[in-house]
Amino acid sequence: MSFPQRRLRRLRRTPALRRLVAETRLGVDDLVAPLFVREGITEPQPIASLPGVVQHSRDSLRKEVAELRGLGVGAVILFGVPERKDAEGSGASDPDGVVQVALRDLRDDVGDDLVLLADLCLDEYTDHGHCGLLTAAGEVDNDATLDRYAEVALAQADAGADVVAPSGMMDGQVRAIRGALDEAGHDHVAILAYAAKYASALYGPFRDAVDVTIAGGGDRRGYQQDPGNWREALEEIREDVGEGADMVMVKPALAYLDVIARARAEVGVPLAAYHVSGEYAMLKAAAERGWIDGPAVALEHLLAIKRAGADLILTYLTREIAEQLA
Ligand code: PBG
Repeated sequence: MSFPQRRLRRLRRTPALRRLVAETRLGVDDLVAPLFVREGITEPQPIASLPGVVQHSRDSLRKEVAELRGLGVGAVILFGVPERKDAEGSGASDPDGVVQVALRDLRDDVGDDLVLLADLCLDEYTDHGHCGLLTAAGEVDNDATLDRYAEVALAQADAGADVVAPSGMMDGQVRAIRGALDEAGHDHVAILAYAAKYASALYGPFRDAVDVTIAGGGDRRGYQQDPGNWREALEEIREDVGEGADMVMVKPALAYLDVIARARAEVGVPLAAYHVSGEYAMLKAAAERGWIDGPAVALEHLLAIKRAGADLILTYLTREIAEQLA
């Protein structure tokens, strides 16, 4: 009388059977490596709260990207750390700004073999640390910021970006950027919109990585989303797709798997998820203490993000996962 008891376990008996019926697979093609490049340094600088991640020099970035390519990684997203910051975030749109220089280097090195994405925001470049321009009263000025984003998009496209990724959460940013790109003949440059980006406490290590402190102990709750809201995330995503986004993103990832799953059901465009700095740092800290098996948890977390519905994952784990899967 053994008929029903083993029904669900039968296909779990051997690794080969489990492989045959796996619903979700993680591959190096799913991953995008976030990379930091800092102006004016000659040696890469470690980032204390992101063990294993560095601020690259111009040369070390080229070397890292060559190695990632060798491991089969297909895409990187660049973040710049400028030498000087100012109120307008001038470095973000300077043709000789740190990311533009890096994009030109990498385009020379890799041709079309690797997708080059550029994070499009001002916070790394502004002295006040906000993602947009400020009014005299110190508020983030939505529409004035859109004009700056258009300038940044053009600089990044001119320098060779395949994809620009606006992360500032201004209303109308995708429309403004699409319009500017098209008008300048960059209609082939795609937009990955950070569509549902939450005002998360998990971005702390990233802000160390790009040397950003928000002036006056401020935060981004005036433009990033409230963590309790999911319907609003779908509004953001529909809006961005309507404005011309080619891909949309949910960020962070693990605490927002429900949002990823709902977004997947909602739209047909490719869906990205950002496994952010704080998610990486928590994993590394626990693994360092020997409290969890780091590589196993890393794979489980990324697989879960895929299972929830993400097509691509931006993660600081990209290099080690590529090595693990190689
Ligand atoms: C803004 C931006 C941030 C991140 C990506 N783009 C920081 C923020 O919104 O404060 C966070 C990424 C991470 O934590 O890994 N340019």
